[in-house]
Amino acid sequence: MKVAVLGAAGGIGQALALLLKLQCPAGTELSLYDIAPVTPGVAKDISHIPTAVKAEGFAGEDPTPALVGADLVLISAGVARKPGMDRSDLFNINAGIIRNLIEKVAATCPKACVGIITNPVNTTVAIAAEVLKKAGVYDKNKLFGVTTLDVIRSETFVSELKGISLDKINVPVIGGHSGVTILPLLSQVEGASFSDEEIASLTKRIQNAGTEVVEAKAGGGSATLSMAQAAARFGVSVLKGLSGESAVEYAYVEGDGKYARFFAEPVRLGKNGVEEILPIGPLSTFEEKAIADMLPTLKADIELGEQFVNS
Ligand code: NAD
Ligand code: LMR
Repeated sequence: MKVAVLGAAGGIGQALALLLKLQCPAGTELSLYDIAPVTPGVAKDISHIPTAVKAEGFAGEDPTPALVGADLVLISAGVARKPGMDRSDLFNINAGIIRNLIEKVAATCPKACVGIITNPVNTTVAIAAEVLKKAGVYDKNKLFGVTTLDVIRSETFVSELKGISLDKINVPVIGGHSGVTILPLLSQVEGASFSDEEIASLTKRIQNAGTEVVEAKAGGGSATLSMAQAAARFGVSVLKGLSGESAVEYAYVEGDGKYARFFAEPVRLGKNGVEEILPIGPLSTFEEKAIADMLPTLKADIELGEQFVNS
């Protein structure tokens, strides 16, 4: 399998490259691309780690050489938030970056699975879908917004609050990846019960966790290391699926459109990307209301992406 990381010289990209070098199955090839000239050096650096995963680096304006033969493309290219900014403030710069990169994906590795990390994810995934559609190569089972960071954060916070062992914890997170569109389904956490106050405050903390990091980094960017681990977990699960094993992750995908065209939900991964969208399961009254409340924001975010490409 070949995994291309676009944005590989950045805060997420370098850590992700390292984690993929350590976590991918033997024989995986990593193809690291960034406009920054340091990128071949990043690949050279990690190539000295003794694992059976190869790494090659590419820099410059054209990602094409890095994309040739890719089975999975993970994209973290673009700008990150500073304190006081919302993820949607990144749209002006990142929308164009995603459009250009996805045009190259469509031309070079149209059958690859693509995981978008670049914010605003609610919108950049819609941009990617429309670009792939225009190129005639869109397969909704192969395009993902990476929302795994919301899941691993939720697992950490719930474990800390309830003293549940981390290897037993499972917290579904559905919706999108910004503010009120991030919805942890605390009613479904096995082995834990929450008061109404705990549900309200924990949900808010999970929704604001990205801002927590942005503020703590005080102008130095947003989450990179936890995001890299989240993307590595997601990427390894996609590779598992592609190689015939089954894996389940929550991801922002185009499903049946019950709530919105794109929605983060549980997916069973397999040889064709998404093999099956799994049921979200029973919802509490709080969660049903939270979904209803998020939909205008989520739908507007998606529409913005569609219009960016089509108008
Ligand atoms: P960063 O600034 O450290 O790195 C971004 C990298 O992208 C840089 O190395 C830059 O050179 C590169 N880049 C810019 N334009 C490019 C292009 N056209 N082609 C290739 N590379 C290009 O930022 P970061 O902290 O790594 O964050 C990257 C993105 O990920 C941001 O948009 C951020 O908001 C997002 N993010 C998403 C999540 C999530 O949960 N999905 C979590 C954290 C961060
Ligand atoms: C996160 O959730 O940490 C990322 O989306 C980055 C951000 O801007 O908050």
